[in-house]
Amino acid sequence: MIGVLVSGEGTNLQALLDAGLPVVAVASNRRDAPALVRASCPVASFELADFPDRTARDSAMADWLDEQGVRIVVLAGYMHLLTPSFLGRFPDAVVNVHPSLLPAFPGAHAVEEQLEAGVAEAGATVHLVDEGVDSGPVLAQERVPVLAGDTSETLHDRIKTVEHRLLPEVVRELCGR
Ligand code: GRF
Repeated sequence: MIGVLVSGEGTNLQALLDAGLPVVAVASNRRDAPALVRASCPVASFELADFPDRTARDSAMADWLDEQGVRIVVLAGYMHLLTPSFLGRFPDAVVNVHPSLLPAFPGAHAVEEQLEAGVAEAGATVHLVDEGVDSGPVLAQERVPVLAGDTSETLHDRIKTVEHRLLPEVVRELCGR
């Protein structure tokens, strides 16, 4: 039973749904996240402004996911760090997808930073989540070429094409553990 956390467009959520994986709940830190309309399962938003602090928000989000029967959590473009009050509830069962070859280029601007650095190869990584910024153990990784004339949009689209294959593969394996 998979719960997906989103903040943005939700193309990786769509890839999980299209792969037929058992997504039973989708949550967001933004109630206006476009991703939320993609799901036909229960959805909920947990905006930081509605809670005293991050710990309280993350506890409430973990409670809700737990109530939906979630056992594996996938961060699919979820743009907030998770606190121990969340991670402790799903030990070794929270994964993230990131648009670079981690540990290179962690953080929210990985695509732009790879272009600025002039790397020949970018990439996509799926990793277990810890309290750091994109720092948990890598589960799968694939290289993506940077082409002449790439913009952050064209490069990100090429990376996402890889993410949409890699993420469902890894999540399917985790479901079979
Ligand atoms: C993806 O590139 C993912 O690696 C990063 O955020 C982006 C989310 O895209 N963490 P989407 O919302 O799944 O389309």
